[in-house]
Amino acid sequence: MKEQLALYGGPKTKTTPNLPMFIGGMEIGEEERKQVLEVLDRKYLFRYYGPEKFPSKVKELEDRFAAKMGSKHCLAVNSCTSALITALVACGVGPGDEVIVTGYTFFASCASIVAAKAIPVIAEVDETLTIDPDDIEKKITPSTKALLIVHMRGVPCDMDRIMAIARKHNLRVIEDVAQAAGGTYHGKILGTFGDCGCYSFQYHKIITAGEGGAIVTDDDLLYDRCMGYHDTAACWRPDRFAEQRYEGELFCGVNYRMSELTGAVMLAQLDRLDTLVDRMRANQKRIIAGIKDIPNIKLRPVYDPAGDVAVCLMFYLDDAAKVSEFSKALQAEGVAAGSVYNSSIPDWHIYKHWKHVIEQMTPTAIKCPWSCPYHQGEPVAYSTDMNPNTLEYLSRCITLDIPPRMNDEDCDLIAAAIRKVAAVLA
Ligand SMILES: Cc1ncc(COP(=O)(O)O)c(C=O)c1O
Repeated sequence: MKEQLALYGGPKTKTTPNLPMFIGGMEIGEEERKQVLEVLDRKYLFRYYGPEKFPSKVKELEDRFAAKMGSKHCLAVNSCTSALITALVACGVGPGDEVIVTGYTFFASCASIVAAKAIPVIAEVDETLTIDPDDIEKKITPSTKALLIVHMRGVPCDMDRIMAIARKHNLRVIEDVAQAAGGTYHGKILGTFGDCGCYSFQYHKIITAGEGGAIVTDDDLLYDRCMGYHDTAACWRPDRFAEQRYEGELFCGVNYRMSELTGAVMLAQLDRLDTLVDRMRANQKRIIAGIKDIPNIKLRPVYDPAGDVAVCLMFYLDDAAKVSEFSKALQAEGVAAGSVYNSSIPDWHIYKHWKHVIEQMTPTAIKCPWSCPYHQGEPVAYSTDMNPNTLEYLSRCITLDIPPRMNDEDCDLIAAAIRKVAAVLA
């Protein structure tokens, strides 16, 4: 039945308030306070050399994070960008190498490749809005060294295909799990498929300390090299001033260390991860149950729906021209939904707006890494329309966040609003 849309003067469907999409951030409470006060009371805020009676919070976080993800090692760092750069460097990615990354991710995934002095090659997404394995195969060249794949907006990439391609071409795989901590692919935790998995604890992520990040790996050598790179002074070595124990152990690094205060907050947040993901999944499931039979809208397919951490709900309309009116109509109904791509609105998550990469803008005139003399084969060039499938999918997409604190009534009203709007505009 077609009801009059709120956009055209009809009654508004959802009058309950829309909650902000701060996930772990909204839960900060007694546990975080207790952890942070413990660190302050110690008057020792640095992770290394602490008095023995005060075991490092960062180290405790690393041990618990590794166990939780089912990985042999975890290294805590100060952001996911740092984690990605560190993982790339540890994997031996550097001058002359190409790294394939998706064109729908936060710009940091791509920028980290440039920071590691390698050249990003930007691949298409498929309808899941994660990297298209067919396009990876098309973009592999003799210079390709690694795949930086992103479990975008909470959902797993096609890990079976990606790992098979990586094995066939002898490529490293770095997983960007910034937006999907706690997600799985056929039961295995995201971040544990590739050589390294990188997480973000920035404020908009599922669990958060405002800033922060982590790398997981099962590989002892990669872990050592990550450790070395993230800490210029190699404080972590049994003997900082000793000769290197193996070729490739010592090289100049940076300072991406995590502070004890961040470690403390993250210990409390880690305990919240399962509950937050469970709540988002329950909310998403309830909304989907209310909209799945609507004609002319198509839910974003997911390689393993059970592994989606459900931070959002995304669906497609059959025509990009309908998206703007549809999302305005949902907003008028009281639902905080939006379009994903509009060519005139800048968005750092869509390659088309990655001006610094598209135009190869660099801090010096040398144009590193794009002018790298070690790079073999055709120079890598970009254009704003080089990945038409990505832009086509995104232009037909509607998205809405799923705050974990939303209740059943909110979910039912959202589903009702989508039904109402779709009956008129889909
Ligand atoms: C997919 C993705 N990768 C990487 C990052 C960078 O994370 P951070 O801000 O912790 O460096 C983000 C943050 O928004 C992200 O969404």
